[in-house]
Amino acid sequence: MEKKLWGGRFKESTNKLVEQFTESVSYDKRLAPFDIAGSVAHVRMLAKQGILSKEEADRIVEGLHKVLEEVESGKFEWKTELEDVHMNVEKRLTELVGPVGGKLHTGRSRNDQVATDVRLYVRHEIEEVLKLLKELRRAFLKQAEEHIDVVMPGYTHLQIAQPVLYSHHMLAYYHMFKRDEERFRDTLKRVNVSPLGSAALAGTSYPLDREFTAELLGFEGVTRNSMDAVSDRDFVAETIFNCAMVMMHLSRLSEELIIWSTEEFGFIELPDAFCTGSSIMPQKKNPDVSELTRGKTGRVYGDLMAILTILKGLPLTYNRDLQEDKEPLFDALDTVKMALKVNALVVAGMKPKAERMREQARKGFSLATDLADYLAKKGMPFREAHRVVGELVAYCLDTGKELDQLTLEEFKRFSDLFGEDVLSLMSVEGSVNSRNVIGGTAREQVLKEIERIKSEESF
Ligand code: ARG
Repeated sequence: MEKKLWGGRFKESTNKLVEQFTESVSYDKRLAPFDIAGSVAHVRMLAKQGILSKEEADRIVEGLHKVLEEVESGKFEWKTELEDVHMNVEKRLTELVGPVGGKLHTGRSRNDQVATDVRLYVRHEIEEVLKLLKELRRAFLKQAEEHIDVVMPGYTHLQIAQPVLYSHHMLAYYHMFKRDEERFRDTLKRVNVSPLGSAALAGTSYPLDREFTAELLGFEGVTRNSMDAVSDRDFVAETIFNCAMVMMHLSRLSEELIIWSTEEFGFIELPDAFCTGSSIMPQKKNPDVSELTRGKTGRVYGDLMAILTILKGLPLTYNRDLQEDKEPLFDALDTVKMALKVNALVVAGMKPKAERMREQARKGFSLATDLADYLAKKGMPFREAHRVVGELVAYCLDTGKELDQLTLEEFKRFSDLFGEDVLSLMSVEGSVNSRNVIGGTAREQVLKEIERIKSEESF
């Protein structure tokens, strides 16, 4: 019977099914580079503190670098019976450098080790997500800049409401993904602290310099309670929540792109390279990327529910349940990264159909609010103006006209306050440009906002 690294007190070897049930190496092996980085820092610190000799530390570090090379070149032989990434790395280290490898784990437990690995991994992944979020924001900004003259209907309840600039609509998404960035950056503060030195749960009797290890690993500080440190996975839940929020935003975008690219709307043309065909209907061009983004949002929500549920009943401190944090975490990050990448390309490649959008922007009595405001500005109480314009809309419905087709004579039938100037007011551009407040859709405001964004972000 081959002994486990922890096998001293055991008389029987582990049941094969139990090995399969309890292993995590099949998925946590992706943590190897972080595990090794954490071990190198730990060993350097042990040497600095005189707990290991300089020679011992050097041999271990050299061995760890060899292990990393094997991992990166794909030569490393992962073994299920060694349970997880930590045991696999340590076992191989000892094969390479001999018994001195056994000194690596001095003053450390897998409990603070795995917490460290996951924090380093999450920090790395958040940096990746931040880059991808920026790419996506850049694509929205570019759309906004390039199509500043395109007017489209703005909707509430998916009913035509008021004309808006397509650029304004694009910048609405810019802001969602900007908030997502802020959320990830905020999470990073709580991710980037070192649990090393917490050991199994109570700290350690070795004179470790926790701050030194933290510094070597680029952590901003050290955790302040060893029991919390080995059982805290709040940062995992937060990270998955942030991913879920990004996916929710992408899913809303997807829903709009799907609707906009229908024959019925015809607002945009999606790039061919990002659509797929039908095996039976030759004419079809389907927005599968958007549909799958919407679908994958469900799975990331599932990851969030999984981590919250895994954590909810855990007594302090470490429990093996915590091993289950990894698959939802990896899945959420993998999914969000792919979704961000592909959607940035979709957004960059889509083309608004300006004519069609403008045509629809006139419809649905989208200028009714402008008319009510017109009367109110001439002194009529807004509520009364609202009623008068409602009657005008009813008249249009009866006669099959749009508001911009009415004559001055017709307007006057509903109120004396209507004058010649009402006719020039009845244009979608006029309507858009009248909404000249900060955050409004007027061209002047949208152009200002584009400039503000460009001064804030280095695109
Ligand atoms: N594979 C474990 C995990 O992911 C590592 C920590 C194991 N610790 C322990 N005491 N069994 O959580």
